[in-house]
Formats: sequence, C-alpha cells, structure tokens
Amino acid sequence: MTTTTGTAAATRAVGTAHTRVEGLAKVTGAARYAGEIPHPELAHGWLVLSTVARGRVRSVQDAPVLAMPGVLTVLHHGNAPRLESDYTVPFGQPDPALQLFQHDRIPYVGRPVALVVAETPEQAREAAEALVVEYDEEPHDVAFFAGRPGMYTPEGSAAHKGDLEAELAASAVVVDAEYTTPEEHHSPMEPHAATARWDGGRLEVIDSNQGSRFVADELAKLFSLDPDSVRVRSEHVGGGFGSKGTRPHSVLAAMAATVLHRPVRVVMTRRQMFALVGYRSPTAQRVRLGADADGRLRALDHQAECQTSTVFEFIERSADFGRPVYDADAHHTVTRAVRLDVPTPTWMRAPGEAPGSFALESAFDELAEKCGIDPIELRLRNEPTVGPLSGLPFSSRNLRACFEEGARRFGWADRDPRPGVRREGRRLLGTGVAAAAFPTLSAPSTAAVTAEADGTFTVRVTAMDIGTGARTALTQVAADALEVAPGRIRMRIGDSDFGRAIIAGGSMGTRSWAWAIIAAARELRERLVPGGAVPPEGITARSDTSAAVGALTEMERHTFGAQFAEVAVDVTTGEVRVQRMLGIFAAGRIVNPLTARGQFIGGMTWGLSMALHEEAVRDQASGGHVGADLAGYHFAAHADVPAIEADWVDDPDPDDPVGIKGIGEIGVVGAAAAIANAVWHATGVRHRNLPIRPDRVL
Ligand code: MOS
Repeated sequence: MTTTTGTAAATRAVGTAHTRVEGLAKVTGAARYAGEIPHPELAHGWLVLSTVARGRVRSVQDAPVLAMPGVLTVLHHGNAPRLESDYTVPFGQPDPALQLFQHDRIPYVGRPVALVVAETPEQAREAAEALVVEYDEEPHDVAFFAGRPGMYTPEGSAAHKGDLEAELAASAVVVDAEYTTPEEHHSPMEPHAATARWDGGRLEVIDSNQGSRFVADELAKLFSLDPDSVRVRSEHVGGGFGSKGTRPHSVLAAMAATVLHRPVRVVMTRRQMFALVGYRSPTAQRVRLGADADGRLRALDHQAECQTSTVFEFIERSADFGRPVYDADAHHTVTRAVRLDVPTPTWMRAPGEAPGSFALESAFDELAEKCGIDPIELRLRNEPTVGPLSGLPFSSRNLRACFEEGARRFGWADRDPRPGVRREGRRLLGTGVAAAAFPTLSAPSTAAVTAEADGTFTVRVTAMDIGTGARTALTQVAADALEVAPGRIRMRIGDSDFGRAIIAGGSMGTRSWAWAIIAAARELRERLVPGGAVPPEGITARSDTSAAVGALTEMERHTFGAQFAEVAVDVTTGEVRVQRMLGIFAAGRIVNPLTARGQFIGGMTWGLSMALHEEAVRDQASGGHVGADLAGYHFAAHADVPAIEADWVDDPDPDDPVGIKGIGEIGVVGAAAAIANAVWHATGVRHRNLPIRPDRVL
C-alpha cells in the first residue's frame, strides 16, 4: 500500500465543529477510567486521614485490623519504605505532601496516616474505618481573615510603578474597597484514582491526572527508579481543573504494589478529595483606584491576601490579574500570604485571575458609578497601548472588540445606569459587565507522527484530555498539517511513554501539543515520497519544540474577554437568579467551535457558581471542613444555569503555527464580577463578599 498526504481535496478541519472523537466510547462505557480498568490479582487500598490539625501520630493500632477479613497490609509511618525527598520538579520544589508515611508529624486535618490494603474495596474500607490511630495533639491555627497576623510577602509577588499615595491624593475620584472570596474546591466528576502494578521490571500506573509524563517522572524520583522504568497512562480523565497533578493516591498505589508484589488500586472518596487534592485559597483583597473626573486612572492599587500551608508554599496570586489589563500612572499590585495548619492550596482554574478579577472588576464598577461613566466606556478609556508594567508590546489585544461585540449582542446601549429602579413583581432586575484576561503561554513538547501502511496516520503525544476536547482539537490540527481528513488520524494521548509534553494546564495544553504535532507532521511530509511505499512498521517523524518555544520574543501575550450578566434579585427571599450571561472572548484561533464553546460556557458557569454558591467552610475548633461533600459544598446545578452564550472575535495569535492562544481558563475570569455588578445594578447594594448568599442579600 502506498500513501500520500496533501491531496487537493483535503478540507480544513481547524475552525469547524467536530464532535469528540472519543464520544462514542464515552457514552457507551467503552472508555475506561483509572479506577475501573480490570486487573487480575487486584488489591484495593483505602486511605486513612488524620483527624487532628496539628501534632504527631502516637500509634497506629494495626494489629486488630490485620486480622480482619481480606486485609493484606496496613502501611503507615512505622513500616513504609523510604522515599527520596531530595529532588526537583519542573515547577520548582517537590511537594512534601508526597512524602507519605515518612514521619509522624501531622500538619493539617486530612493528612494521610495509613493505607489499608485488602482483597476488595469493601474489606479495605471496613478495615480503614476500624483502624485506631492515636495522636499527640497540638494547638492549631486555621483562621484566615483580612490583615491577620503572620502575613508575609512571597518572593516575586509584588510589582509596582509610580507614586501611589501622590496619585491617589491628586485623584478627583477615589474608590477604596475590600473584597473577600472563600475557599473553593475543584472536585472534578471523576475522583482521583490510580492502579499501580509492576510489569516486567517496569512500574505501570494507570492514573487520573493532568500530565502523565510529569507524574511518571515524579514517581521515578520518589521511588529512586530510572525514569524509563515508570510508565503512567491516563487515556481518559474526567475533569481536573488544576487538582490532578501527582497526588497521594498514585504514590501510595505504587508503594503498596511494591510492598505486596501485586497490583493495587487507590481511589479517593469525594470527602477525601476535599483534603487531598488542593483547593483555591480564600482571599481578602483591597483595591484602591484613583481617577481624574473623566475616568482616566491615576492610581491602581491591588493588595491581595491568601493562605498557604506550613509544609509548602502555594500562592493564589490574585493581585496579578490587573497587571496587563489597565494602565495607571501609579500601578501597585501585591499578594501576601499566611501559613496556616491547612492543606496546601493549589492551582484551580484561573488561579489568581478568578478571585483577582472579582475584586478589581467590582472596583471598576464602583469607579464607573462614582465617575458617572458607563462601565464599558470607563474600561475603554483605560486601555493600555503597551504592558502597563512591563512596557512590552501586546502580541494582540482585542479587548475593545470583545466589549463592542458584546455590548451590541447583549443590548447594552439601552441600559439605564441607575441602580434599583427595575422592578418586576418581587424581583429587581439589573445588568453588569466585567473584563477578563488570562496569560497565553506555550511550553516545550514532543510528538511523533507515523504514516501507517494502510494510509492512516498515528499521532503519539503525551497530551491529556481532561474533558476539554483536546483529543479532538489535536486530531483536527493533525489532519490539517497532514492535509488529510480527520478520519485518517489516530490520536494516541495520555501515555508517558510518548515522551515529554506539557500538562493539561495553564490554558497552554492544546497550543503547546499542537505545535509539536505540526512540527512532526512537517518533518514526516518531507520524508514521504509521493506515491512511495510505506513499510509495514510505518514511517515515523518526531519533533521537539524546545528551541522554537525558547525563541519566542518577549511580549505581553494574553487572551481577553468581556463578560455580561443579567440578574433578578428576589427581595423577599434574597435569592439571586442569573437570567442570562454573554461572554465574548479574544482567545486566539478557535480550533473546534463546538468544544471551545463548551470550555467557555463551562468557565462562565464556574463564575456563576463562584458568585452565588461555592464556599468551603472550615471549622475553627477541629481545623477540618464542615460539609466536605457535594451536599455541603453548594455549586451551580442545571436549574441555576440560565441561557449562557459564548462567542469570540477574530484574534489569531501571530506566533503560533495555528494561531491558537488557549481557552481553558478565561471563561471564569470576570464572570463573578459581572454578576456582582448586576446585583448592584438591580438592588443598589454592593456585594463585596462571595458568595452572594440569600442571607447576605437580605
Ligand atoms: Mo489549570 S488551574 O492550569 O489545571
């Protein structure tokens, strides 16, 4: 059989709507997830978490539990194999939370103290619940509030220019307001799960994560193994949102499989996820804006506070949001943090930008009110021509186009700016707007493209599809690069053996992987002789985009967006109903309008949920959560989600081979502020503390 690429009839796949290539497998159950792939001899591990917030494990009384039916072992700090701790990871220092059972210290409620392994999950659970762990408890501190003692300024979290106090003093109009957002959790639909086994001298882990190569490399380091002797596969992943890096379940599955010489699966419960996989820190933010009477900003001061743990530093950099968005003569942004006896927070969809945009975009609405200027007009008057702090040119900046298109479609021109004047029975109606921005990043990745003897093409890349549609988008990109129909592409992803590739995160996955696929496809096309024979093993070309990505010039690269919301506030119950939302985004070339719309609408729904529902409550006395499950942690259900529309303006990235920028996170940015601003417009009352619960509205 011979094959060629580049037939004249090849249509362009990028930019056209495609249903998910794995859709049929998912809806028929043929797609298997990490916790449901069968294995002979499989044993099941159940996590036991600390119930105290600070102290030491005095004893793990494993003897009675070892006598229970089916129990194979109880791993804990007294008997666990040693793990390597002296290593680095691509995002900096390794997380000490992965040093499981290496010591007896307890730094927060929910720290794993034992893994009970049994023949069945039921036996493991029964034994785990019966396991008695004794603690020497110490006083703890989990209280996060604005301006609390212990706040410090982490390295690199402050940026400023100009004389803030002088510009504020010279301003005709000043807004000075404080905002808070609560602790929020990702809780992806598929819980974190891993099945580990030794196979012919290699450790193989089937895991639910956002970067199989990263997990494989970290497991190799923890267990002092050759990187090539660890393989992590994650063909299907049911959501991640930042929570699915290397987490305790995969480490402990690997540890137990090593100890027991048989396959071991560890699946987190929904409740365990609240302690084990990170979360968004609560924030307290103060924004000061100073403007001339015509709304031109003289001063922008955004001070944010967040919490981190005593074991590891993760900073929710809320104050970063405004850096590329608005210019001001004096421009100060800083995020401070306090170390508490809590689990370490982590990346959660639009980390920093989500809470930061709530505060700054709410403050902008307050400034518009004080200046008597339309909130869209106010933003357009403060559009920078270069990066306000960096001085760098923007690769492209189409925020104005987003507002103009959004205003037209939303019907903004007819808006009466006065608050609290539209009544419909018991309900007050209002509309609000906010800006969105998110960094555009790319990271080095590798890919391989094989021309098969049957005329099809196999692409291998350690990309992850965490539900975004990445697999489908990459299929379209590959089809165009090879100039063949998407049906001739076999997209293989989620296997660390396919080589280095960036995580599904930072809204940079599809952009980075697509770049690598295109490079490999180009190379392959050069090697394919038109009409030439393809050997049975195919012809494979490989790529590595390290050099190309490294050669990118320094610029302000961002996606932008305009968020619109209309709310109805029931003044007798305090209930806020969002009636409609519209998001218009400038987010690069859109590869697949169908799945892209899903990403934007999903992000906007997060924003709605953040504005009105989500709030994890920590009990000061115990240090743990109250209601850490999906009954206690409220989030938007279908009935809460109104007509949400998302669309985009033309905004191809000038540097990317396809023009992609990234769409995973921008949808949530600004959405909560647009809703809070609409609530003000409806009622005349500013809500500066999320969520806008009925008891806060009344
Ligand atoms: Mo995202 S918070 O970068 O997974």
